[in-house]
Amino acid sequence: MDRIVIQGGKALQGRIPISGAKNAALTLMPCALLTDEPLTLRNLPRLADVDSFGHLLNELGVATSVEGARKGEFGRVMTFRAANIASTVAPYDIVRKMRASILVLGPLLARAGEATVSLPGGCAIGNRPIDLHLKALQALGAEIELAAGYVKATAPPGGLTGGTISFPTVSVGATENALMTAVLAKGTTVIENAAREPEITDLAQCLIAMGAEIEGLRSDTLTVHGKDRLHGATYAVMPDRIETGSYACAAMLTGGSLELVGAREDSMHAILSGLADAGALIEFKPGAIKVTGDGAIKPLSISTAPFPAFPTDMQAQFMAMLSLARGTSLLTETIFENRYMHVPELSRMGADIEVRGRSAVVRGVEGLVGAPVMATDLRASMSLVLAGLAAKGETQVNRIYHLDRGYERLEEKLQAVGAEIERVGGD
Ligand code: EPZ
Repeated sequence: MDRIVIQGGKALQGRIPISGAKNAALTLMPCALLTDEPLTLRNLPRLADVDSFGHLLNELGVATSVEGARKGEFGRVMTFRAANIASTVAPYDIVRKMRASILVLGPLLARAGEATVSLPGGCAIGNRPIDLHLKALQALGAEIELAAGYVKATAPPGGLTGGTISFPTVSVGATENALMTAVLAKGTTVIENAAREPEITDLAQCLIAMGAEIEGLRSDTLTVHGKDRLHGATYAVMPDRIETGSYACAAMLTGGSLELVGAREDSMHAILSGLADAGALIEFKPGAIKVTGDGAIKPLSISTAPFPAFPTDMQAQFMAMLSLARGTSLLTETIFENRYMHVPELSRMGADIEVRGRSAVVRGVEGLVGAPVMATDLRASMSLVLAGLAAKGETQVNRIYHLDRGYERLEEKLQAVGAEIERVGGD
């Protein structure tokens, strides 16, 4: 199994190109199911999850073609065409590897009148239920059956009709499934307490490019006027705000200066505010954000919460950064019930962290020491890489297939700014 080996202690300097956002790509790709015309997505990141989603769409009858990056762009261009739906079943062996597969449920139901998707099951960070997704589809008239580890949604004979979906708690995925179903439902749908993550706005803008009529973008109430059909479109995936924040933490941890090319400020105010509070110098340049650390990291007290608050996907990376702060920080994880898998591994590198229920007390230490560590989930893996970049000596991060799900060309991007990092084939 591959692992990553890092010799820490180098201050990183230079430019890192930011890839298309994984969590936007994974909700834009299933939009191809909503029309029989081609949907072309630009700036798609080269990630394991994007490849897995492409294979799932192929199983459903979607033809996919890939072309290299266009001039001046970093990501791939892929065209998806669901001329016909060959299958309405998303099988267990695909869904169990990638929870985001649940995002074919709504579009398949909207296009084909039925969808059967394996229940995604839990993952390292929590049990990841889908009750809110199902509630949304039922509000549009779908009948839901749960059997043998699968969920089957069926539209009534006359098709889905618009209605009011009122989410008791904010859910990114459920809001995405609701949007992708409502666009083909008869009449108007109002989605209340909708998630406001930038990836939702990216999805809405892509659907509008395909002919959908959606109001209330960026707000917590989305109004959708259903259409009989949608047409093809070409749409560019937004830059990845979590990748941007992750590399910004690398600048802080190594006392370096990184220009993050393609980063978009409007999607990451809470992340930038946290970095500034920790002592980062942040400069906005045309098409880039430059983050400089001077080696002194200030302690913070931060709680994760839905957008526009501080994102849960940045909690592990900030914890790595704050493990070297001059003082004690408090991190509180309010979204997932088990998102501290990185703590024991960071502690093995010398971090002083105490988990108390939903919170973690991080007492800054003078320095970290490289060690062999184990990746457990995507963002935890990145926090270990970040710690390794700052640690004295060698760090080996094992099970890096987690990293490949969400960080495109990680070692290449870090080598280009001075990191001593390489991928070593597994034994
Ligand atoms: C999306 O997951 C992201 N994944 C996650 O990123 C991200 O952490 C999360 O949103 C929160 O921002 C993708 O976009 C592919 P939720 P999602 O539904 O949609 C509970 C990463 O590292 N809930 O907003 O699954 C749920 O258990 C990944 O890139 C229900 O109770 O997140 C959680 O506690 C990790 N019932 C909370 O809501 C439901 O039906 C938020 O989950 C759905 C969710």
